[in-house]
Amino acid sequence: MNKIEILSDDLINKIAAGEVIERPASAVKELVENSIDANSKKIDIYIKDAGKTEITVSDNGSGIEKSQLKKAVIRHSTSKINSNLLNKIKTMGFRGEALSSIVSVSDFTIRANCNNDLDGHEINLTAGNLTYSKPASQKKGCFVSVKNLFYSTPARLKFLKSASYETLLIKRLIQKFAIIHIDKEFNLIVNNKKVINTRQNSELDVKEQLKKRAAEILGQDFVENTIEFEEKQNELCVAGLLGLPTYSYSNSNNQYIYVNGRIINDKSLNTIVKVAYRDLLFHDRFPQVIINIKCPFDWVDVNVHPMKNEVRFKDKDLLNSFLIKSIKSSLATLGHKNSNKSSFELINKFQSKNNFQKNLILKENSEIENKANTEVKKIEKKSLDYLPLGFAKSQFHENYIISQTKDGIIIIDQHAAHERIIYEKLKEDFYNKKIKTQILLIPIIVNVDNIILNSLKKKFLNLERFGLKIEPFGPDSLILREIPAIIAESNLQKLIEALISELVNEESFDSIEIEINKICSTIACYGSIRSGRELQIEEMNDLLRKMENTDFSGQCNHGRPTYIKLSLIDIEKLFGRK
Ligand SMILES: Nc1ncnc2c1ncn2[C@@H]1O[C@H](COP(=O)(O)OP(=O)(O)OP(=O)(O)O)[C@@H](O)[C@H]1O
Ligand SMILES: [Mg+2]
Repeated sequence: MNKIEILSDDLINKIAAGEVIERPASAVKELVENSIDANSKKIDIYIKDAGKTEITVSDNGSGIEKSQLKKAVIRHSTSKINSNLLNKIKTMGFRGEALSSIVSVSDFTIRANCNNDLDGHEINLTAGNLTYSKPASQKKGCFVSVKNLFYSTPARLKFLKSASYETLLIKRLIQKFAIIHIDKEFNLIVNNKKVINTRQNSELDVKEQLKKRAAEILGQDFVENTIEFEEKQNELCVAGLLGLPTYSYSNSNNQYIYVNGRIINDKSLNTIVKVAYRDLLFHDRFPQVIINIKCPFDWVDVNVHPMKNEVRFKDKDLLNSFLIKSIKSSLATLGHKNSNKSSFELINKFQSKNNFQKNLILKENSEIENKANTEVKKIEKKSLDYLPLGFAKSQFHENYIISQTKDGIIIIDQHAAHERIIYEKLKEDFYNKKIKTQILLIPIIVNVDNIILNSLKKKFLNLERFGLKIEPFGPDSLILREIPAIIAESNLQKLIEALISELVNEESFDSIEIEINKICSTIACYGSIRSGRELQIEEMNDLLRKMENTDFSGQCNHGRPTYIKLSLIDIEKLFGRK
């Protein structure tokens, strides 16, 4: 065996660098966090060749005194631990090893000044060794240049992905910083091209600032399809923007989650967000959200991983349940609102095809049309202001309702909309224990295999809680005697068959809540107006009014929109009038 040796500082630093600085984006993260900790108001990041050739970060923060500059790059040196107790860390950095790690694997220059003059100082280190220390012109703040990252650890270089991927990671990182540090200006310049440019909007209040920043970074579309939310419980607060369920995404990349302003990558928090949206989204969709979790600093341990992007909560259960409750109650204010995404897509399709007349064949039903006309005329135009979903004008293809609103038209999928209404009503009545039932004049008898009947007897009896009175009827059949009144007109035979197969397939549900949702959802699906049924104008308007008064009616139980909106302006554009 070889002799045991104590590692040299150089080797120790390289090993540490391996943990902290995984790729160019991690170096950028450390440098920007230092600028944030220094209270900078403006942070400029320049990237060349995906950060492999050069990364520079310059800020207008507190700067570093000349006599301290060499210390800053020594391992385990930090100015932050004094202001931090290890169990109450307020700053982004606290380990005192980021700069020393970067220094050990690059050609490193740092220039700083902590006064309001230009008399700064600069040092340079190559592979960890000081090459010079000299006065240099620098405004108050700090400038860091990292050249040839990983040149001393070529193995690391090999593991990096393509330049465009590494650049994308840097861009996403700066976006994440910019979304939460709304009081700071961020500029990201990649190969001389400005990629991100945000402004300070200090004249606006905090909520407006967040929206403005989110629009700058993620687009106006994001802001228009999200709602503000803020919930507090003692010292815990969650706030941000929540995406409409119909504005969902196929992965969790668009979930921006922070803890006390720190960027957090924690899959379990993504899962919690999903749970909160569960009832509104397909299982493979992810809501788009910005969420900042604010709590006392000693509720979280940030010293979990050298990269500091994981945290451990003292009371994870408390946080999880509060987060779910808060998101759910904020989403409950949505009412009938849904995303404008589908309408945009529709318009784009129209415009790109140009043969839209062929696609939109309205089934004219003159009788209904006439009735609708007189009805709409009767009602003063003013009342449209109060009826966001407008007045039904006609039905086409036996499933779609066209309604006229104050400033456009709405097309409603009658089945999807009705399904949601029944679903929400059933659930509400279920929890309030007041499902209105109706006794069937002619009970329905369904044949069921004897084995199933015996094994699920109890469950069938349980359905009475949902307004369905089902009893065994002989050795191999069931009899349905009573149903929830709101589904009176549906195909009950099919409903019972669907419920049976559901109970057989899912003998144990994950939770009572899931079971309740599932059963209500099945009843709603079979109990709602099917597509293919002709509706009278009164029925259509009744449906619209119910939608306006039903939570989440903008999407069906599977997350699809129940209606799409075309504004008059969009329609005029389609006809080339605007
Ligand atoms: N942009 C900056 N402006 C002002 N001071 C800075 C800046 N960057 C670094 N410093 C100083 O250099 C010290 C060392 O920085 P370094 O990033 O290595 O450690 P840290 O931020 O204290 O902890 P961590 O390793 O967790 O990032 C900091 O504590 C800070 O005093
Ligand atoms: Mg740091």
